[in-house]
Amino acid sequence: MGNAHTFPIAGRPADELLDELRSLREGDLDWRAGRAFSLVYDTDDPVLEELLETVGVMFLHENALNPFRYQTLLKMETEVIAAAVDLFGAECGAISSGGTESIFLAVYTAREWARNRGIDHPQLLCCDTAHPAFAKACHYLGVQLVKTPHGADGRAQPELMAAALGPDTALLVASTPCYPFGVIDDVVGIATIAADAGRLCHVDACLGGWLLPWWAQLGQPVPPWGFAVDGVTSMSADIHKYGYTFKGASTILYRDRELFEHQIFMYDSWPGGLYASSSAAGTRPGAPIAGAWAAIHHLGADGYVRLARRVLDATTRFRGGINAIEGLAVTGDPDMSLFEFGALPGSGIDIDGVCDVMDGRGWNLDRQQGGLHLMVSPGHDRVVDLFCGDLASAVAEHGESSGVAHTYGGVV
Ligand SMILES: Cc1ncc(COP(=O)(O)O)c(C=O)c1O
Repeated sequence: MGNAHTFPIAGRPADELLDELRSLREGDLDWRAGRAFSLVYDTDDPVLEELLETVGVMFLHENALNPFRYQTLLKMETEVIAAAVDLFGAECGAISSGGTESIFLAVYTAREWARNRGIDHPQLLCCDTAHPAFAKACHYLGVQLVKTPHGADGRAQPELMAAALGPDTALLVASTPCYPFGVIDDVVGIATIAADAGRLCHVDACLGGWLLPWWAQLGQPVPPWGFAVDGVTSMSADIHKYGYTFKGASTILYRDRELFEHQIFMYDSWPGGLYASSSAAGTRPGAPIAGAWAAIHHLGADGYVRLARRVLDATTRFRGGINAIEGLAVTGDPDMSLFEFGALPGSGIDIDGVCDVMDGRGWNLDRQQGGLHLMVSPGHDRVVDLFCGDLASAVAEHGESSGVAHTYGGVV
């Protein structure tokens, strides 16, 4: 043991531990007050919240490693996948622990698909706005990452991707939308390049998957983006984002079963018996499956549309309020409910200094290379005016930036 002083020798009473955690938590980011962006998707729906907490506790100890041992988990998992298959027009798919695992599985599937075709050193082709989970998956899986720059509108440039496509390209990626700018790539353009060249095309709808169907129903312009587009072969869509369950639930979907079969791992050379799994994890917690099932069935399409309306209303007001502050502007023309905003050239505004003031007021904005990032949840409609008021005064009062780094994620 490295440091004998950090391992607890004597156990402590549960009450004492709970008191300690309650008091520590007082300093944590208060997402219920609308202060968090992107880390928590707040529905401001106490009934849903209580339901999620109840089912989370009900299935806390159960293990979906062998789904046939827990028939209720099996039923819920099957129904969640069936709901996603129906919503997205896929043929089949699986639940994973999050967007990153779904992306890993898509990249792994593409690698195996390519190797079966004699491509020994497969490449993945994406725009530089694609989520870092693709770079991470490539790094882990020995796939070469080829990136093309985004255009002035923040979108992938299909013509550059076509030019970068080579004999080893296995998978092309489109984001719907991408995280940094909230814009939807030209899926038709990218998927057509993939299909014409006989390659795979993955749509990263981790963010948009569980919102865009309702966004379109609200009359918002949504370009073609899913399996409706010829050439799209797989898609990732996270239930723990705009599907509104707690963390640990995403879906990875395929146009056809033959491709999906690459994802399934079977091992029969073990004294313990046949090992079979369709995602990366072995032991799988039951709670995220139960949470996903409960959120989908409690909300239904009606509930998702109702929440999407709140997201749309809040997004419209945030964008209007930010653009009304002299010297600030939303970057580009975002398609959904997340966007970057920054200081206009010549405004003299130090956007990181502005963020320091906002941090001091308890807001939690993500700092990007070119500005600050907002991801809007339904519950944010309660704080738009407060936020815009604080932002206007932060612009007026801010000093030089303290030099906080532009980060997304972290290492413990
Ligand atoms: C577009 C996009 N793809 C993938 C991911 C990765 O999802 P996760 O953080 O659940 O692994 C994210 C996370 O925000 C994302 O925005």
